[in-house]
Amino acid sequence: MSRHLYPPHIVNIEDLRRLAKLRLPQVVFDYLDGGAEAEITLQENCRAFRDLQFRPRLAVAFEECNLRTRVLGTEIALPLLLAPVGYSRMIHPGGEVAAAAAAGAAGTGYILSTISGYKLENVKAATSGPAWFQLYLLAGREAAEATFERARAAGFSALVLTIDTAVSGMRERDWRNGMEQLLGASVFAKLPFLPEIVAHPRWLANFLRDGGMPELENVIIPGKGPMPLTDVASALKRSVVTWDDLQWIRESWSGPLVIKGILTGDDARRAVDHGAAAVIVSNHGGRQLDSVPATIRVLPEIVAAVGGQIEVLMDGGIRRGSDIVKALCLGARAVLIGRAYAYGMAAAGEPGVRRALEILRADLERTMRLLGCGDVKDLNPSFVEARGSGGRN
Ligand SMILES: Cc1cc2nc3c(=O)[nH]c(=O)nc-3n(C[C@H](O)[C@H](O)[C@H](O)COP(=O)(O)O)c2cc1C
Repeated sequence: MSRHLYPPHIVNIEDLRRLAKLRLPQVVFDYLDGGAEAEITLQENCRAFRDLQFRPRLAVAFEECNLRTRVLGTEIALPLLLAPVGYSRMIHPGGEVAAAAAAGAAGTGYILSTISGYKLENVKAATSGPAWFQLYLLAGREAAEATFERARAAGFSALVLTIDTAVSGMRERDWRNGMEQLLGASVFAKLPFLPEIVAHPRWLANFLRDGGMPELENVIIPGKGPMPLTDVASALKRSVVTWDDLQWIRESWSGPLVIKGILTGDDARRAVDHGAAAVIVSNHGGRQLDSVPATIRVLPEIVAAVGGQIEVLMDGGIRRGSDIVKALCLGARAVLIGRAYAYGMAAAGEPGVRRALEILRADLERTMRLLGCGDVKDLNPSFVEARGSGGRN
């Protein structure tokens, strides 16, 4: 790790966030950092972790601290995976390829968003770890089936169906900043961004060297070719998936199916009934329906509802290793991180993502040792309590 990029004050994810803010034009930083409407859920996701306290077992000695676990039958070195983050290539030209490479180097998995500027084959080739493909039905069934075929051939081992995006959430920062114009086709409409962009020459040089806004290499419109980025907003409006879609998806995709965006026990049961291999408790990082609860709060309800029949993963608000430990205590098999690695990517591409993962790995091991638990598989609700509960679960 270059000391130039990583002065000693980069010790936590918030430090990477600050660096990301310095290095990105505001419109790009806000796209990454922001949430929907009043950003209540965005803030709650992080805040709710603070309401959980640890109940450590002290004077416990163990030499090895095991952070390894299994998700969908595959062993990963850390109980975390990298969440799908659309438009990663706009955050840094390394984008999805850099994130996948860093995930593999850390011994864990990467989930590629449909909204990717890189071909899925190139992303898979960049990582030595497991890779899953996240699906939006942007161009209909035929196009989706062709993508499944490519994903399967390239070695993606699971399909993640995101169900919380009936329409795109109202990201007020993006509207104010003119994100739509930035992504739009008109060069003229981009002129107002010039001063802000010129003020971030490193990002601009990278962006231009990378060839500007890419097309969606994994959404091939039959008879036309890759979907232009400019069409994504309108395509998303037509891409709502329903439980009925799971029927043909199950028939077209023979591997494990993971449902992302579960917030209630009822929907978790439905996912089990529809043949999901896992659910991801997620509110899309507070970017979709505002005022839904923090994911760590609904996790126990969902764990109870699926009753061990399938794996439960969760994401939202994870910025420290201790957040991951809390989620595992409450029954998550593993977590996904989104912004935590994307801030690193914005700060420095692949080395920045590696740094984010290093920070979380070190946090995890330290927290486990201080908690008196030598294996992530042994974490359980007795290690946490609600703040103010007077020492009882
Ligand atoms: C910039 C950004 C883009 C995202 N794009 C997608 C996406 O394309 N598909 C998806 O299912 N989730 C997407 N998400 C949601 C993440 O997969 C994940 O659920 C969320 O980031 C978790 O919250 P966290 O950022 O607090 O870790 C995105 C999140 C961010 C921050």
